[in-house]
Amino acid sequence: MADTLTDEPVSLTGELRVVDDVAAAFRTLVTTTRFPSIALSGGSTAEACYRALADAPELEWRSVVVLFGDERFVPVEHEDSNEGMARRVLLDRIETGAIHSAAVGATPRAAAAAYDRLVRALGPVGLVHLGLGEDGHTASLFPGSPALEVADRMVVATGDDRHPHRRITFTYPAIAASPLVVFTVAGAEKRAAFAGVRRGDRSLPAARIRAERVVWLVDHDAAGP
Ligand code: 6PG
Repeated sequence: MADTLTDEPVSLTGELRVVDDVAAAFRTLVTTTRFPSIALSGGSTAEACYRALADAPELEWRSVVVLFGDERFVPVEHEDSNEGMARRVLLDRIETGAIHSAAVGATPRAAAAAYDRLVRALGPVGLVHLGLGEDGHTASLFPGSPALEVADRMVVATGDDRHPHRRITFTYPAIAASPLVVFTVAGAEKRAAFAGVRRGDRSLPAARIRAERVVWLVDHDAAGP
C-alpha cells in the first residue's frame, strides 16, 4: 500500500491520526475509552499528555490500575523518575486504583523480575501509552538491545550508554498482549524516526510494536509534509 502523500510504501501498523495538538487528542481518546488498567510512559510528550488529562473533569479512574511501561531505576523522588513525573502532573491530583511502582527492588534485575510477575498476574494491560524517541526507541526498548529479542518475559531490566539510568521496560510480548496501544509523537525532531517507522524500518524498535489495536497520535511537525 503506497502512502498517498509520498508514494512511499507504508507499513505503519495501526491507525494514524495527524493532529494539531497531541496532548488534546490523547485526552479525548483516553476520556472516551474504558480500560481496567493503563501503562504510562515517560518523557516530555507524555508529561504534556498527563497534564491535559489532569484537567479533564470527565476522567473517571477510580478503578483503573496504573502501571509504568518503562521506568528508570531511580527513586520516585528523582527528577528522572517516570512515576515521579506522572504523580506530579496527574496521579496525585486524581483518584485511581492501585498504582504499581516499577523501580522497586535491590537491583534493576530484581525489580524487573518482580514487575514481570506482577504484569503476568494482572494480565493484559488495557491501554499502553508509548512515546517515540529520536532514535526510534519506545518504552525503554532501545535500538540493538537484547531486550528486543525477549519472547519469554513481560518485563526486563535493560539500558545502554546512550540513555540515562538502568531501566525496567515492558517487552514486545507485554505490549502485544494489550488491546490498545497509543503512541503520542510531537515535534519536528521526531520526523525522521516517525518516517522510518512508517517505512517499516525494523532497526527502529517502535516499528516492531504490534498489538490488537495501535493508534498513532502524531502532530504535523512530526508527521512531515
Ligand atoms: C522514557 C520514555 C521514552 C519516551 C520517549 C519520548 O522513559 O524515556 O518512556 O520511551 O517516551 O523517549 O520522549 P519525549 O516525549 O521526551 O521525546
